[in-house]
Amino acid sequence: MIYIKTPEEIELSREACRLVSLTLAEVAKWVKPGETTLRLDTIAREFILDNGGKPACLGYHGFPGTLCIEVNETVVHGFPSSYTLREGDIVGTDCVAELNGFNGDMCYTFAVGDIDPKIEQLLAVTKESLYKGIHAAKGGKRVGDISNAVQTYCERHGYSVVREMCGHGIGKSMHEDPEVPNYGRRGIGPVLKPGMLICIEPMINLGSKNIVIERDGWTCRTRDRKPSAHFEHTILITPEEPEVLTSFEPIEQEILACGGKIYGRAPREIAE
Ligand code: MF3
Ligand code: CO
Repeated sequence: MIYIKTPEEIELSREACRLVSLTLAEVAKWVKPGETTLRLDTIAREFILDNGGKPACLGYHGFPGTLCIEVNETVVHGFPSSYTLREGDIVGTDCVAELNGFNGDMCYTFAVGDIDPKIEQLLAVTKESLYKGIHAAKGGKRVGDISNAVQTYCERHGYSVVREMCGHGIGKSMHEDPEVPNYGRRGIGPVLKPGMLICIEPMINLGSKNIVIERDGWTCRTRDRKPSAHFEHTILITPEEPEVLTSFEPIEQEILACGGKIYGRAPREIAE
């Protein structure tokens, strides 16, 4: 069942998306060598609560954090922990904030200090593939058009697409229909209709596409232990180009203010 949101519901979702974007901008200030991932989680939880929201991942099917923490070979669903970030690491922070009964969901993969140029390129291409997917998500197109755009772009650069995890619809629940895979054929799957809210979230591996789930039942890592990157936006389907409700802008402003680098071309430069 795919829900088409009312204008009022879209407005509430916009606010939830704004909150989660500002939350990760707060987290961005703390991504540096010597900080633990638990510290990042605390920053995010307190920021969401201080702003009247609810950390939606915390307690979701027993998940123990506000953030899913994705260090290096971790693909998704890692726990915040005493792990101390080191120069050269990458760390994805995936966050869902609930506000006024609606959810905003996004993920950003940060570089900790200077990273290997090969991994810089993985971050750039993964983020760009998200915008390729967004560009393909015009009203009247199908989910498969998004999937194919992401897959084609990543594989053209020699990376592999994780199969087991997908993007999704979002609203009052953090996961609604439809599923939005990051691989597949054009022209298949549900039609994208104005008023749908979906999350697109490429999970892209430097090596092979295979993953394993750790014995904690959650942490998903690459089987070959090579790095994996993950970026996610919540978007609104419209008759034309979708509206991106979450934003990397406040995050990237913080990264630049802290002397860090931004990888990947700007969304408007990413044409067909
Ligand atoms: N934010 C994740 C997603 O993109 C979901 C997190 S699952 C949870 O779908 F259990 F950690 F909440
Ligand atoms: Co998501």
